Amino acid sequence: MTLEQIKKSFLTDFQTVKDLKSLEFSRIKYLGRKGELSKILRALKDLPLQKRKKIGNQANILRKEIEKLLDEKFQKLQTTNHKPQTTIDVTRPGEKASVGHLNPLMKFEEEVIKIFTSMNFSVVEGPEIENEYYNFDALNIPPDHPAREMWDTFWLKESKNTEKLLLRTHTSPVQIRYMEKYNPPFAIIAPGRVFRHEATDASHEINFDQLEGLMLGKDISLANFKFVVEEFFKKLFGPKIQFRFTPSYFPFVEPGVEVHIKLDNGKWLEVAGAGMVHKKVFEAVKYNPYEWQGFAFGFGLNRLAMIKYKIPDVRLFYSGDLRFIKQF
Ligand code: FA5
Repeated sequence: MTLEQIKKSFLTDFQTVKDLKSLEFSRIKYLGRKGELSKILRALKDLPLQKRKKIGNQANILRKEIEKLLDEKFQKLQTTNHKPQTTIDVTRPGEKASVGHLNPLMKFEEEVIKIFTSMNFSVVEGPEIENEYYNFDALNIPPDHPAREMWDTFWLKESKNTEKLLLRTHTSPVQIRYMEKYNPPFAIIAPGRVFRHEATDASHEINFDQLEGLMLGKDISLANFKFVVEEFFKKLFGPKIQFRFTPSYFPFVEPGVEVHIKLDNGKWLEVAGAGMVHKKVFEAVKYNPYEWQGFAFGFGLNRLAMIKYKIPDVRLFYSGDLRFIKQF
């Protein structure tokens, strides 16, 4: 074959190349040791000098052209012509199917409950729909008491017999329900959802979770409360946590205190109301106030979770935003 013929033949063959195998076939046919081009190059030595130079040159140019075309095709086939994988690589990491999980607040609540049960508190529950008596009256907040203003209440349109129904504004009614049924001494906690008809901001939600606590006995004092809070905070946040008590007012305790925690930015955040159970409350549940005494408290669980996980806005808990939820 002449160089001209080789070129023509290569180009026709080249058009039919569709995979790496036929590409390699072409490469051997035209550039291989026994290939057409090699035959010409080998025959050069028998030609006169002038002709040898001319044909040698042309043969080299053709060889380069063919090499270039084959290389380009090789690159292309390698990236586009992946064979479908026929074997399964069992050593590859599996693909994780995403499944739902508990809301971060529920997980947090479980952690808090564990700490209190480790200190011998029992866990009790009460209804979210309450009546006026348990949410207010029995807690020494009669209808005309100005302290009712402290809790912006969602009243329900329906009432049960003559009782006015509402969404509980705090978990304190669970104290009353428990004391009506059981006698001291005891230590209980009551976690649960509460509702308030108020404007929201970064630390106020209209529906949030509280953790009520009540410890009664013959000589339970505020000093015991301080110990319980300290234990709780150290277990939850670690030994470096800073907290303080300030005087406060709730009609169902005397004296009343607020518990604050120091945030990273140096500001104090109110996390609980507490105090020694008021004589009037004991009278409402027919306990002898001269025989029993003890403390009650109500923590804002969302606020504690915000501090623990550095969550900047309480409204994120119920936002349904997966970018938030998936971090827990
Ligand atoms: C009460 O609800 C009292 N029942 C607490 C109590 C119990 C006092 C037993 C004495 C004895 P207060 O309204 O301050 O108190 O709420 C208690 C905690 O709930 C607050 O310290 C705060 O941490 C949290 N909290 C209050 N309002 C909101 C809100 N809108 N959003 C999120 N957390 C709140």
